[in-house]
Amino acid sequence: MCGIVGYLGNKEAFPILIKGLHRLEYRGYDSAGVALLNASGELNVYKTKGKVKNLEDYCKGKDISGTVGIAHTRWATHGEPNDVNAHPHYSQSENLALIHNGIIENYATLKELLIREGYTFKSETDTEVFVQVIEYVKKKFNLDLYGAVNRALTYVIGAYAIGIIEKNNPNILIAARKGSPLIVGIGKDEFFLGSDASPIVEFTKNVIYIGDEEVVKIERGQQVVINNLKDEIITPEVSQLELDLSEIEKGGFPHFMLKEIFEQPKSLGMCMNGRVSFDELEIKLRGITDNIDRFRKARRILITACGTSWHAGLIGKYLFEEFCHIPVSIEVASEFRYRKPVIYSDDILIPISQSGETADTLAAMDLARQNGAFIYGICNVVGSSIARGTDSGTYTHAGPEIGVASTKAFTTQVTVLIMMALAIGKELGTINHEKYHEIVKELINIPSKIKLILDKAPEIENISKVFTYAKNFLYLGRGYNYPVALEGALKLKEISYIHAEGYPAAEMKHGPIALIDEEMPIVVVAPKLDLYDKIVSNVQEVKARKGRIIAIVTEGDIEVSKVADYCIEVPDTEECLTPILTSIPLQLLSYYVATVKGKNVDQPRNLAKSVTVE
Ligand code: G6P
Repeated sequence: MCGIVGYLGNKEAFPILIKGLHRLEYRGYDSAGVALLNASGELNVYKTKGKVKNLEDYCKGKDISGTVGIAHTRWATHGEPNDVNAHPHYSQSENLALIHNGIIENYATLKELLIREGYTFKSETDTEVFVQVIEYVKKKFNLDLYGAVNRALTYVIGAYAIGIIEKNNPNILIAARKGSPLIVGIGKDEFFLGSDASPIVEFTKNVIYIGDEEVVKIERGQQVVINNLKDEIITPEVSQLELDLSEIEKGGFPHFMLKEIFEQPKSLGMCMNGRVSFDELEIKLRGITDNIDRFRKARRILITACGTSWHAGLIGKYLFEEFCHIPVSIEVASEFRYRKPVIYSDDILIPISQSGETADTLAAMDLARQNGAFIYGICNVVGSSIARGTDSGTYTHAGPEIGVASTKAFTTQVTVLIMMALAIGKELGTINHEKYHEIVKELINIPSKIKLILDKAPEIENISKVFTYAKNFLYLGRGYNYPVALEGALKLKEISYIHAEGYPAAEMKHGPIALIDEEMPIVVVAPKLDLYDKIVSNVQEVKARKGRIIAIVTEGDIEVSKVADYCIEVPDTEECLTPILTSIPLQLLSYYVATVKGKNVDQPRNLAKSVTVE
């Protein structure tokens, strides 16, 4: 949700900033802008509606010189996406330029105060108010930029990651964060700023993850200085990035989404690496072993997440209840955080998040912590806010996910949940030994089974071409594959803009069946499991109403295949592992429907990858 990037060093800033914006574009892409301080001390701001490419075109022929600068790619919150509302924003005197990711909640009150002081505003944004507040306190209290930012932050309520530069002051870049992510890269005689490591990794692996409520002073030729909002000095902790540049490039694929779909055998391998013992057929999860008493005494497991991560969480409920006999309640984070939920100190909260920055999930986690619950996180991004705020947890190690529609993050989240359920179940004695070993053995085979499904991509592409006419899709599944139906529907609507609904197959009779006619495609997730006969009946019910059925079935299927218009086979596996396999054809189906319709699958309209506002 908005990407910010900054540079201060001895190179020209513009190309570095533009490259950084391209890498951060997944966070928002409705407008973009850059501010540069040139050698004469002039502060030039260029910004425009649309993607980073538009900004590059817009800047042609303009003075883009300067060795210090900041840049922004936006996902609009306050004010429509247009040139004026794009960041950076100048202050009244045009001496300051600010980029911001987040929301200033009290901006209206602050704006009124500033208008009374004679300030005028060009945009509808909260960010312009923010920069004016900084200028106001700077003048009023005669402060330098660092002092002014520190002071101004005591006035604003909300979330932010900011970068700010000042005319005639080419040696200073100030940044701060509360709620939204911020990383500083330390190179040789140069510094970088980024919402994540992707704009930085090409230049340096040495980074500082800026903590919440911290302000950073980056000064040419000096060490980075950090203080918190209580005015305490923080010793910067330099970490080494493990990220590789190739991980954030398309690697020959037309889209990041397709690359990430095809990466799943590898990402699952990384997720299981060192955790699944091939020889002993055992699961070894440090976070679980170290905290097994918490799980043993747990009254309940609460799972909270948003979007695709919530769908993974739904599968977690089936897993923990089946294998650990611990009651699980799961809720989307935006509801959980405001519902005044009952949370006990012997509850375990599992927040699940790819980015580790989702505002609602973070807030839900804070709420659970205040109530004494133990927090066990499942996150992809190492060092993210959620990862840092948990008591313990397991990283998914999917590698960077850049396509806005989540794919490999989902299957690795499910893999972590499976490993957790098996590890806890074994410790608690709630899973039968034989079953445990059978599932572990099968888990090891899952990456190669995914490869077999990926080989069917051309077949799935052909099926998808038949259905691009559709205005609505219905996805049905039961048991472990009900969340898969929800996820399949979400994938399709996110990137193709076709309305799609996921439903528990039997529940279809209570409403969606009214929609079925000969036009309506119905995707049925029907691998051969315990409830197979029941889902066969559901498929018959659809067929009787002339619906067009695309079925995901187990290799060698007979019953569903007789009735379905199209079948995509997946290899047989343990029931609890089927979601990993059945979700793959659904990812491919949505990808191909969207690309055949000419949609931008990596940057679908109105969406952003990392939702750092509630
Ligand atoms: C956004 C993304 C989704 C993601 C959701 C939760 O909506 O577009 O792909 O599932 O946020 O994000 P998280 O990073 O917390 O998993």
